Amino acid sequence: MIPIAFTLSLLGIAAASPLVGRQSSDHGPRFPQQSTSKGFYLVVNVTDPSRDFTPSIQNNYINSIHVGAGLALVGAGSAANNPRVFYQNGTASEVHYRQGTVISDGGLPPAPYGVSLPAGEGSGEVSTVHLNGGPGTKGIGLTRVPEPYAFLYPETYAVCNESVAYYRGKHFLILKHIKTTPRPDGTVEHNVPKECAPVRLFPECTELNKLPSGAISSHEFAQESGCYNNVSSIDWKTYIF
Ligand SMILES: *[C@@H]1O[C@H](CO)[C@@H](O)[C@H](O)[C@H]1NC(C)=O
Ligand SMILES: *[C@@H]1O[C@H](CO)[C@@H](O)[C@H](O)[C@H]1NC(C)=O
Ligand SMILES: *[C@@H]1O[C@H](CO)[C@@H](O)[C@H](O)[C@H]1NC(C)=O
Ligand SMILES: *[C@@H]1O[C@H](CO)[C@@H](O)[C@H](O)[C@H]1NC(C)=O
Repeated sequence: MIPIAFTLSLLGIAAASPLVGRQSSDHGPRFPQQSTSKGFYLVVNVTDPSRDFTPSIQNNYINSIHVGAGLALVGAGSAANNPRVFYQNGTASEVHYRQGTVISDGGLPPAPYGVSLPAGEGSGEVSTVHLNGGPGTKGIGLTRVPEPYAFLYPETYAVCNESVAYYRGKHFLILKHIKTTPRPDGTVEHNVPKECAPVRLFPECTELNKLPSGAISSHEFAQESGCYNNVSSIDWKTYIF
């Protein structure tokens, strides 16, 4: 049953499904239980532990690296290292049809900084993820039912150790988006460069920041998102893929 349900979800067949959040007492847990919240952190899951960094970035929180006025790259650090609060923005229909954006408020007065995926610098498959002042790229969001896990799409993401010119070449762990390419034999080439760790980003529920009067940001179109109460407490080995 489970593999069939999962295959259908990968095909994107939209059907009301009770999969998300179901914990079956008869057959053991199926998928980690979700809650909903407008605000969420993004938590790093290194999908190939052999490619993790030292120290590990597993369960790190996505933050931002200032690289100019209204310009930031996306980094990863501890829960104490200024994790960003994100929300999915758009009408309910835009978010449903994957035409929404993912935004984090920054600055004073608070203004929207949208997650964006500009066309690749350097290699065509690899592009740096940005968090610049502005609306961000449409088509970024969190998966939802019938996908059994909530995570940031479009995948694949990777964290790479790169020098950042703004800091005179100092190295940072920054988030990249990577396009897979099909191989002639029907499998896919993941294209994750060797200095990078492939990651999946899971939303952890948190309260959406309140906006003071005079804010440039608006939460009128901040949608409720499926998210996890505590990503690091999820024991992945107990779930079926
Ligand atoms: C999260 O990472 C762990 C460890 O690398 C992996 O076993 C698990 O499959 C990942 N979870 C998902 C849903 O990708
Ligand atoms: C949020 O979504 C609404 C509805 O599509 C849109 O009007 C608004 O401009 C979006 N906000 C940002 C900062 O892009
Ligand atoms: C990143 O690369 C630099 C330069 O090679 C190195 O000094 C640093 O330790 C690396 N950082 C991590 C987390 O691997
Ligand atoms: C999440 O769970 C981990 C381990 O189970 C715990 O150390 C951590 O404090 C929890 N985090 C939150 C935000 O509750």
